[in-house]
Amino acid sequence: MSFEDQSVVIMGGSSGIGEATARAFAAGGANVLITGRSKERLDAAAQRIGYPVQTRELDATDDGDVAAFSDAIDPVHHLVLALSGGAVGIGPLASLDEQALRDAFDGKLFAHFKILKAALPKLRAGASVTIISAASARAAFPGTAGLAAVNGALEAMVPPLAAELAPIRVNAVSPGVIDTPWWHGMPEQQRAAFFAGVAASAPVGRVGKPEDVASSVLFLAGNTFVTGTVIECTGGANLAAGG
Ligand SMILES: NC(=O)c1ccc[n+]([C@@H]2O[C@H](COP(=O)([O-])OP(=O)(O)OC[C@H]3O[C@@H](n4cnc5c(N)ncnc54)[C@H](OP(=O)(O)O)[C@@H]3O)[C@@H](O)[C@H]2O)c1
Repeated sequence: MSFEDQSVVIMGGSSGIGEATARAFAAGGANVLITGRSKERLDAAAQRIGYPVQTRELDATDDGDVAAFSDAIDPVHHLVLALSGGAVGIGPLASLDEQALRDAFDGKLFAHFKILKAALPKLRAGASVTIISAASARAAFPGTAGLAAVNGALEAMVPPLAAELAPIRVNAVSPGVIDTPWWHGMPEQQRAAFFAGVAASAPVGRVGKPEDVASSVLFLAGNTFVTGTVIECTGGANLAAGG
């Protein structure tokens, strides 16, 4: 798909899904800007991406950073929100810490809210916005009520925002388990066993790669007849859990 000379901003582009999405857009000819909190991680990602991309340090939970960013950028064709506070607000209800759940909302839902609001003046007519939510929003995996709450809230915003912001299109990709640094807080052996279990239960027989999600993002960005939609990209791993 060609995105020749179109401007793309990827919030959370220094790792995982955002990084793969940046590479895919850049391969399609887009002018890509990636953001993240760490200059070092941004520079390393820019090297790995292998196409020229611009970088900008910013903390999406910081009002000042977000406002300054919005002021500084040129009008945008495609905005992708691929960030979260990581694996916080996760675990069984009995041990779920209220502050951790609030942090999870701050790191994802409220960060998205801040970015979307600040970016509005910079979104071109007909621009696309793509949010990366999570399949936990609509599945029934024990220990994920907190993640379901955060991502369910985000997914619930997609249809009304698509109606309200038209002709800007607003969609989300809802991934299942994707092998990215998001999981690096889990010890390696435990992670390998967890991934193997997910792969065994998934109809496609594997966990996801960041490129799987990137491909869904590019579909949503490129198809001007799709808005207000949440696409699942899970390998079917959520089907048995009511997803
Ligand atoms: N991996 C999965 O299995 C999975 C499944 C479902 C949904 N998701 C969702 O997919 C999205 C991307 O996750 P991922 O797996 O690609 O994770 P990742 O590899 O950890 O990447 C997260 C990116 O977000 C940036 N980021 C985090 N907090 C930020 C903040 N406050 N301000 C600015 N940038 C921030 C990180 O850079 P810095 O740390 O340098 O800021 C990094 O570039 C997240 O919303 C996640 O919830 C992931």
